[in-house]
Amino acid sequence: MELTYRPRRLRRTSSLRSLVRENTLKANDFIYPLFVHAGNDVQPISAMPGTNRWSLDALLGEVERAWNLGIRCVVLFPKVSEELKSEDGAECFNADGLIPKAIRRLKKEMPEMTIMTDVALDPYSCDGHDGIVSADGVVLNDETVLHLCKQAIVQAQAGADLIGPSDMMDGRVGAIREALDDEGFDQVGIISYTAKYSSAYYGPFREALDSAPRSITSKPIPKDKSSYQMDPANAREAVTEAQLDEQEGSDILMVKPGLAYLDIIYRLRQESELPIAAYNVSGEYSMVKAAAERSWIDEKAVVLETLLSFKRAGADLILTYHACDAALWLKNE
Ligand code: PBG
Repeated sequence: MELTYRPRRLRRTSSLRSLVRENTLKANDFIYPLFVHAGNDVQPISAMPGTNRWSLDALLGEVERAWNLGIRCVVLFPKVSEELKSEDGAECFNADGLIPKAIRRLKKEMPEMTIMTDVALDPYSCDGHDGIVSADGVVLNDETVLHLCKQAIVQAQAGADLIGPSDMMDGRVGAIREALDDEGFDQVGIISYTAKYSSAYYGPFREALDSAPRSITSKPIPKDKSSYQMDPANAREAVTEAQLDEQEGSDILMVKPGLAYLDIIYRLRQESELPIAAYNVSGEYSMVKAAAERSWIDEKAVVLETLLSFKRAGADLILTYHACDAALWLKNE
């Protein structure tokens, strides 16, 4: 054949391929999500093989391990004991609660590690919703935002670097920005869950925290989060959410879940100049783990390919439970 262009020329050797590679992964692209609980033991999470609910002592060791692998940010999620849960989730702004304690401890021992938090009521709510559920079963917006602001302040006081509102209430980014500024935390950033979809991929996470919506009284409880999390059918709406979050003062925009929403990452990349994060969520993690356990896929290759796809779609940062494994694989490459 007489071909002018032979794209295979640049694929011929490993060196050539490395010269024309458009995207790369590095350990400081990752944000490592960690679960904490109040006990002294380390509890494996059965729906997410390889992850644990850490005690505060053991958490420190795991964060040190992550640091040594080049990871520069962790996000903390609490497993709150049932007796501390309530209808309004007020434990979320207890300055001596699990998360403020964990943040203070980490900041004392490892001040350089960036600490991100999750702002939402679900781990603290006996109803399992991100907001306060009214007597007639409506997830209240403005009342919830007041609680979220208090939660963000308590996290900032403990030393958090990045506040991550994951609740999808309207106006919460602006309200949290104002509350932080009023308290003198103008250097604490906001990484908003901008386009957070009402997704079945969060299943293993809700098992890890025992935080799924449920009805324990006669109060009607919405069975899912679709009155505040986004409809998986919608893409333009994500652009609207991004514009609002940007106007309200978010520093970083996040898309969640990741893999089924690569188009949304791409779309926000076109629409905004802010850094974009992708959340490779629990269900995505557990599917890979389950297939790898059966030797149906090559775990390392699949994980690195998946994480790279987020970068290619336009993400700068990736929240992933694979963070330490991936960082180790990249180091040994
Ligand atoms: C809480 C929250 C959830 C996740 C992160 N923050 C669960 C939910 O919204 O129900 C999911 C993370 C994952 O699945 O890995 N608002």
